[in-house]
Amino acid sequence: MPILNATGVSKAFGGLKAVSQVDFHVAEGEILGLIGPNGAGKSTLFNLISGAIPLDSGTIMFDGVKISGKKPDKICRLGIGRTFQTAQNFAGMSLRQNVLMGALFGKKGQSATQAAADVDEILDFVGLTELCDKQVSDIPLAYQKRLEVARALATKPRLLMLDEMMAGLNPTEVAEAMELVEKIRNSGITVIMIEHVMKAIMSICDRIIVLHHGQKIADGTPQEVSSMGTVIEVYLGQ
Ligand SMILES: Nc1ncnc2c1ncn2[C@@H]1O[C@H](COP(=O)(O)OP(=O)(O)OP(=O)(O)O)[C@@H](O)[C@H]1O
Ligand SMILES: [Mg+2]
Repeated sequence: MPILNATGVSKAFGGLKAVSQVDFHVAEGEILGLIGPNGAGKSTLFNLISGAIPLDSGTIMFDGVKISGKKPDKICRLGIGRTFQTAQNFAGMSLRQNVLMGALFGKKGQSATQAAADVDEILDFVGLTELCDKQVSDIPLAYQKRLEVARALATKPRLLMLDEMMAGLNPTEVAEAMELVEKIRNSGITVIMIEHVMKAIMSICDRIIVLHHGQKIADGTPQEVSSMGTVIEVYLGQ
C-alpha cells in the first residue's frame, strides 16, 4: 500500500495553475524524485502536501489518513518532515539548538532529556557533531542544508521531503548528500526529493515524476523517464 496517495491535486495563484490535477503515489521505502523546469510547481506540491498552503481541490492521503485540509503542525506530527528550497534555519542559534527545535516540536510529550538524546543521535547521523555548538551563520551552505535535514529528521518523520538539498553544492558535497539520502532511506524513512542535479536523481531514485506547467507529464523509473521524448524536450534536453 502506498504511504502517500494524491488525487486530483490542484492549486492556482490567481490565473496561474501552479499545480493542476496531479495524481501520484509514494510507495513506502522508496526514494521518489520530483523534477521539472523552473516554475513547474514542484515546491508548490511540497507546500500542498505539508499543509503550508491549502489545496484548491483534490485529496492527499498519508498512511490511510486524509491530510489535505489539515494544518502543517498536525501533518508534521503525523509523520511528514520537510526541508525548504532556501534553508529556513533559525539564525542566531547553534546547530544543536536548531535540531532541538525539531525534536521538541515534532513529537508531543517528548521530555527534554529524551529530546536532547535524540538530537545527539541525529547530529551524529548527519555528520554535524563536531560543529554542533557553532552558530548557523558561521557554517557553509552545504552544512546549512544538512542542518535543515537534521531538524526535519528530529521531528521523527516516516516520509521526508527534500527540496533541492543539493543546489549550490560542489561535486564532493553532492556525493556526500547522496550518501546521506540513501542512509536516511536505509533507516526506514521514505523520501521524496526535488532536485535539478540529474546525476544524483538518476542514480539514487527508484522512480521519478516529472512536472511541467503544473501537470504531471511522466512517472517511471529513471531509465524510462530519461528516454521519454516529452521529458527530453521540456527539461532534460539532448
Ligand atoms: N505563494 C505564491 N504566490 C504566487 N505565485 C506562486 C506562489 N508560489 C509559487 N508561485 C508560482 O507558482 C509557479 C510554481 O512555482 P514553484 O515554486 O512550485 O516551482 P518549482 O517547480 O519549485 O520551481 P523551481 O525549480 O524554480 O524551484 C511559479 O510560476 C511561481 O512563481
Ligand atoms: Mg522549487
